[in-house]
Amino acid sequence: VGGRGGGGAGADIISTVEFNHTGELLATGDKGGRVVIFQREQESKNQVHRRGEYNVYSTFQSHEPEFDYLKSLEIEEKINKIRWLPQQNAAYFLLSTNDKTVKLWKVSERDKRPEGYNLKDEEGRLRDPATITSLRVPVLRPMDLMVEAAPRRVFANAHTYHINSISVNSDYETYMSADDLRINLWNFEITNQSFSILSWGPRTGWLERRVLRYDSFQPHQCRNLYLLSYPKHLLFVLFFFCPAVFEEPEDPSNRSFFSEIISSISDVKFSHSGRYIMTRDYLTVKVWDLNMENRPIETYQVHDYLRSKLCSLYENDCIFDKFECVWNGSDSVIMTGSYNNFFRMFDRNTKRDVTLEASRENSKPRAILKPRKVCVGGKRRKDEISVDSLDFSKKILHTAWHPSENIIAVAATNNLYIFQDKVN
Ligand SMILES: *[C@@H]1O[C@H](CO)[C@@H](O)[C@H](O)[C@H]1NC(C)=O
Ligand SMILES: *[C@@H]1O[C@H](CO)[C@@H](O)[C@H](O)[C@H]1NC(C)=O
Ligand SMILES: *[C@@H]1O[C@H](CO)[C@@H](O)[C@H](O)[C@H]1NC(C)=O
Ligand SMILES: *[C@@H]1O[C@H](CO)[C@@H](O)[C@H](O)[C@H]1NC(C)=O
Repeated sequence: VGGRGGGGAGADIISTVEFNHTGELLATGDKGGRVVIFQREQESKNQVHRRGEYNVYSTFQSHEPEFDYLKSLEIEEKINKIRWLPQQNAAYFLLSTNDKTVKLWKVSERDKRPEGYNLKDEEGRLRDPATITSLRVPVLRPMDLMVEAAPRRVFANAHTYHINSISVNSDYETYMSADDLRINLWNFEITNQSFSILSWGPRTGWLERRVLRYDSFQPHQCRNLYLLSYPKHLLFVLFFFCPAVFEEPEDPSNRSFFSEIISSISDVKFSHSGRYIMTRDYLTVKVWDLNMENRPIETYQVHDYLRSKLCSLYENDCIFDKFECVWNGSDSVIMTGSYNNFFRMFDRNTKRDVTLEASRENSKPRAILKPRKVCVGGKRRKDEISVDSLDFSKKILHTAWHPSENIIAVAATNNLYIFQDKVN
């Protein structure tokens, strides 16, 4: 799914992907401030070998470019994160955020429209009162299904730095938004006030210049708030706001100019069970047990062959790319992105891993993805690709995994790929 006219260059580059809680809806946000929602079709009986496909359900402009005159700053419309609220009535609600402003959207369906107004004509123009001679009773007439998106709340002016995460709390009355140095708590009903629940001044000693990111996990039966944040390669888990610090001792023999940059955490996720934490840094994915703070229980190499290329990756700024990572529905498989439109999967039980590619040339509809291999030095086999011919402009930063099935969504610049298990 891709391409669109208008907007600035690269406006259609996908910047976030998120399934709703049952996986029937999939929302993407892009650099141009647009949100596209896909809905999974009902399975049809005569096509048993095919499962429901995802089709566009609604498209709307969530954020527009703005200008902050006080700080003389341009505020980009790019959507940084989307979070669904659980469905409570016929409408769907989601939060979308750019660098500064979070919006609550209501997405609803309409298949009837009122006709026969007394003071307006059918186009909505006011009628001349002199021509109104009789009283009509308006009626509802069926029409083609229309999906409408309307902003219900706008939460602004609470972040100095760029918002990088939002998460809805299990009371569904509050949510949190985080930038590099602060986490704010909001009530959905109150847009002019938020509580700063954690904030680090840019100059607080050893936390100087360190970046905060977070995820939250709240078991349904209790209202405990477990909050997780991470400056550089440190991980803080706050149990009732008492922090536990997770840190792996550094191997001094591995220290280099790039150590701090490549160990900087670009994404962090609680497992569905709440027992594990996954972190992504530039070269690896690590799984931590909440009961063990001094080292990760698993470390997976995403693209270790880039170790020898760190200089050029620093020069072209790729070393600062923020790759995300996701769990599958049962926490047994991990997925994360790489370059050349490659993405990686790690099976935690069998310890097997695979590299797959999301590209138009190599993935025809309903074809089976072939594992790809990168070769490091030596002789290159026919089906392998050499490190030197990887395309670093094609990166997979954002992916999502269906909450209960083996369906994944992979954003490759302005294309969205949805892959699913082969059905017989
Ligand atoms: C996810 O979207 C589907 C699809 O339309 C809806 O039926 C379902 O209730 C949503 N799930 C949740 C938990 O909101
Ligand atoms: C927020 O808005 C409400 C309603 O307009 C008002 O009563 C309240 O005082 C405002 N709060 C702040 C902190 O501005
Ligand atoms: C040190 O580097 C080697 C590869 O060069 C890697 O296998 C090892 O995991 C690294 N050690 C740490 C603690 O990162
Ligand atoms: C997670 O992945 C494993 C291995 O592919 C699979 O057996 C399991 O069904 C997946 N779980 C979910 C909920 O998709």
